[in-house]
Amino acid sequence: MITNTTTRAALLLALMLPAAAFAAQENQPLAGTSAHGKYIERGRYLVKVGGCNDCHTPGYGMSAGQVPEKEWLTGDGLGWRGPWGTTYPTNLRLSMNAVKEDDWIRMAQSMKTRPPMPWFTLHAMDKEDLRAIYRYVRHLGKAGKPAPSYVPPERTPAGPFIQFPAPPK
Ligand code: HEC
Repeated sequence: MITNTTTRAALLLALMLPAAAFAAQENQPLAGTSAHGKYIERGRYLVKVGGCNDCHTPGYGMSAGQVPEKEWLTGDGLGWRGPWGTTYPTNLRLSMNAVKEDDWIRMAQSMKTRPPMPWFTLHAMDKEDLRAIYRYVRHLGKAGKPAPSYVPPERTPAGPFIQFPAPPK
């Protein structure tokens, strides 16, 4: 039996503390509680501020970003046409879910695409940021259909497109 009040107080505190810590943790979003969750949070943030949705998510810019997250990065059928031909923002939910993490990171660090994809933005990111983007897109999972295929400059695309002039010399 415990008679000493200090010991009793210490014991009581020891019993209460883990419960308090647990309660505090429960108020956090689930994704924030593990190392994996931190990557996902970071990836979501980078996709948001990195502008990936502006092109890779249909209607994102026009709706001031009011597209449900489950539809993010599913690619777009609106073509970007210029001297390079017509390109379509790919469905990253399909393409990134089809490659392994380290392979995607290597690809992102070295790839060069046709305009208007800012591939140089991916080159400027550090490896952990690229990892976070990859894990976030994997976390979202596969969705949507593949975007239309690239159309060479001499052919007129079947669907809608935005026409760009030649870049200044
Ligand atoms: C201004 C529009 C635009 C923005 C912004 C943009 N992309 Fe793209 N992206 C494209 C287009 C168009 C293509 C297809 C290029 C081609 O066909 O050569 C593409 C291709 C890609 C590819 C290669 C194809 C694939 O599916 O693997 C990756 C990876 C990619 N984008 C990731 C991103 C990420 C990550 C971001 C945000 C940091 C981003 N893009 C921002 C337009 C954009």
